[in-house]
Amino acid sequence: MSGAPLIEPGTGDEGIYVEGREGYGHIKSYVRRAGRMSAAQANYYAEMMPKIGLVYAPQQVDLAAVYGRNAPKILEIGTGMGETTAKIADANRDNDYLGVEVHVPGVGALCKQIAERGLGNLRICQHDAVEVVRDMLPEASLDGVHVFFPDPWHKARHNKRRLIQPPFVALLASRLKPGGYLHCATDWEEYAHQMLEVLSDEPSLLNSVSGPSVEPMAGFAPRPDYRPLTKFENRGIRLGHGVWDVIFKKR
Ligand SMILES: C[S@@+](CC[C@H](N)C(=O)[O-])C[C@H]1O[C@@H](n2cnc3c(N)ncnc32)[C@H](O)[C@@H]1O
Repeated sequence: MSGAPLIEPGTGDEGIYVEGREGYGHIKSYVRRAGRMSAAQANYYAEMMPKIGLVYAPQQVDLAAVYGRNAPKILEIGTGMGETTAKIADANRDNDYLGVEVHVPGVGALCKQIAERGLGNLRICQHDAVEVVRDMLPEASLDGVHVFFPDPWHKARHNKRRLIQPPFVALLASRLKPGGYLHCATDWEEYAHQMLEVLSDEPSLLNSVSGPSVEPMAGFAPRPDYRPLTKFENRGIRLGHGVWDVIFKKR
């Protein structure tokens, strides 16, 4: 591969991630959240996951075979409750989307959206995204990566759990095709600057925003039309909070 530092397998155990095992070069970017699935989410989960779930296994997948066609492939990391994911896939049916999420009720909610909207271009992998990218996605296989509102891990002692750090960004960049994009968004200003710094320092990526731009927004991108405003974001904007988009392209 192209010299990108791979994140080492977390366990020495065929890459199967074991909860709570830190210190193996593996970002533990989430905690298992309590939260029960609603009956509807559970029903849609049971109905849809056998059809559209991509089961984690530590071996590379052929994405064209998974979707049964050659179309642009976009990965979304941390789909949450899936509203944004479903809207984007619905509005862009010529693209194929892979949503990766560990939160089971969120996966159930996204299954409901996929069924109700009749989305044939969206698959879900319910697993740690670091391992999915590392183990399953071939180099230069993606046209885009979305990382929208990743957990900010506000406290300084937790910052190491943030997804957007040099080793994982190098790994993500290695999975992008030349010209493919990595799009991060956050409402946490300090994380926004970390995103900008980490992506700027990755030699295989180039900021999509060029030319003069005005501080303090220098280097940040305007929100592209394909990223819909979330309810949460709308409320934040009304309260005067900022949102930052960082969009880089693979050289
Ligand atoms: C703050 S939420 C944002 C969700 C959604 N993108 C949005 O904009 O509403 C972050 C999500 O990322 C998920 N997440 C964090 N680390 C992850 C990982 N390593 N693999 C898969 N999902 C992850 C969490 O479970 C959570 O649902």
